[in-house]
Amino acid sequence: GFSWKLADHPKLPKGKILGMVVLDGWGEANPDQYNCIHVADTPTMDSLKKGAPEKWRLVKAHGSAVGLPTEDDMGNSEVGHNALGAGRIYAQGAKLVDFALDSGKIYEGEGFKYIKECFETGTLHLIGLLSDGGVHSRIDQLQLLLKGASENGAKRIRVHILTDGRDVLDGSSVGFVETLENDLAKLREKGVDAQIASGGGRMYVTMDRYENDWEVVKRGWDAQVLGEAPHKFRSAVEAVKKLREDTKASDQYIPPFVIVDENGKPVGPIVDGDAVVTFNFRADRMVMIAKSLEYEDFDKFDRVRFPKIHYAGMLQYDGELKLPNHYLVSPPEIERTSGEYLVHNGVRTFACSETVKFGHVTFFWNGNRSGYFDPSMEEYVEIPSDSGITFNVKPKMKAVEIAEKARDAILSRKFHQVRVNLPNGDMVGHTGDIEATIVACKAADEAVKIILDAIEQVGGIYVVTADHGNAEDMVKRNKSGQPLLDKTGKIQILTSHTLQPVPIAIGGPGLAAGVRFRNDVPGGGLANVAATVMNLHGYEAPSDYEPTLIEVIDN
Ligand code: 3PG
Ligand code: CO
Repeated sequence: GFSWKLADHPKLPKGKILGMVVLDGWGEANPDQYNCIHVADTPTMDSLKKGAPEKWRLVKAHGSAVGLPTEDDMGNSEVGHNALGAGRIYAQGAKLVDFALDSGKIYEGEGFKYIKECFETGTLHLIGLLSDGGVHSRIDQLQLLLKGASENGAKRIRVHILTDGRDVLDGSSVGFVETLENDLAKLREKGVDAQIASGGGRMYVTMDRYENDWEVVKRGWDAQVLGEAPHKFRSAVEAVKKLREDTKASDQYIPPFVIVDENGKPVGPIVDGDAVVTFNFRADRMVMIAKSLEYEDFDKFDRVRFPKIHYAGMLQYDGELKLPNHYLVSPPEIERTSGEYLVHNGVRTFACSETVKFGHVTFFWNGNRSGYFDPSMEEYVEIPSDSGITFNVKPKMKAVEIAEKARDAILSRKFHQVRVNLPNGDMVGHTGDIEATIVACKAADEAVKIILDAIEQVGGIYVVTADHGNAEDMVKRNKSGQPLLDKTGKIQILTSHTLQPVPIAIGGPGLAAGVRFRNDVPGGGLANVAATVMNLHGYEAPSDYEPTLIEVIDN
């Protein structure tokens, strides 16, 4: 029968204190002026690199190595932390939705049947991120869903768009809105009353995460549900163009707007009897809107009106909370994660980050599961993030605070694993502000130093790695790697993640002599890290985990 008991590692001892550091958005790329990690002063990470190849190497963090559909899919924090924690590669949301749409199975599922019950008399609302970024959603999936829903009886459809500019180039929102408008026009030709009803930039409207700022969700609610927003337009293309121009907002921060008819009335508020689908597959930035659409009892903001709707997520966003109750595609069933095994084997764990990445080292790490496996064995600490600012304004973020919490946890000797995420490279990288990102990388490096010093003091072990690239490349490039210029001759800033591999380093006074990276897993990726960490805690990994990256040679 199944047992949580892990076999003892034949050579490695138990009981060492292990510091597990995940640098968010920290990839490896050619050193040039757009590589902020290279430009920044990062002595700690530089010294770890000198341990190559025995104590430092690169691992894959994108594409199939983390369960994404193609090798053109950049990595992201969800799939990266899932792989780091689960030790196996699961077909992720993007891929599962592709399967369901291509096979048509999505229309046979319980979730679709549930929303279909409203098609006769109600409107179908689709809310989500409009881009081809492939991190939270994909426009081609929305296009297929629009077609499929209309073929399956939806007569009135309203799309509530969230503009991107974070997983794709800033300014690309206009093109995506044009594409969608085209599709909706075709549907109208077929007699479906289909329109865009509202919109706003993803970082300002709807897509907050980990309860950092409910105002963001409220702005979306007002536009999507109540049909109220500070800006009103007859067309969404015009809205996006004009708001970018007039308010100087980037795609990520376009203020909320509603589309109105010739009488100035909003074309698509959400009312009793309507169906609503949030079409993002990724969970973190959908949980809050899902709660506001689903929960009868709700006190995060005044909803004014709570319409009786049939609501489904593209996926179920939280398996523990069963949120939402209805969904079109079943999420990956990530089970038996390394965190759960280790807790069952007596490994005490501490995890910490600031709000914007807190769920990454807890929820994503634990296979999209919220809460503790065993509260007597674990402690998770969230440091409140600054809210209401873009992080280029405060690029050091809470790196020092996170590192000091980790240091204290290490020095307390109460935990065997102390795990953190340092957000700077990613969160500041996403702003596209190169100067600020350089400051961010230095701050993250200093935080690593604080943690490694503590590990040194307790005779422990460290593992330092990252979840995907971002800060190491801040410019859009052509196929041969040359920076691309826009019409005005300026470089095109890359706000998104990258396809780059990420470093992993091991070390510390507690690392047994003879431990080194093997050279027979050259294609290793983030999913190989879990077995590696289990070994360093003194255990063999379960046999279905991706192989460990380390070996122990006898001296
Ligand atoms: C975001 O949600 O901020 C970006 O789309 C992806 O960034 P993350 O995967 O690093 O969270
Ligand atoms: Co990111």
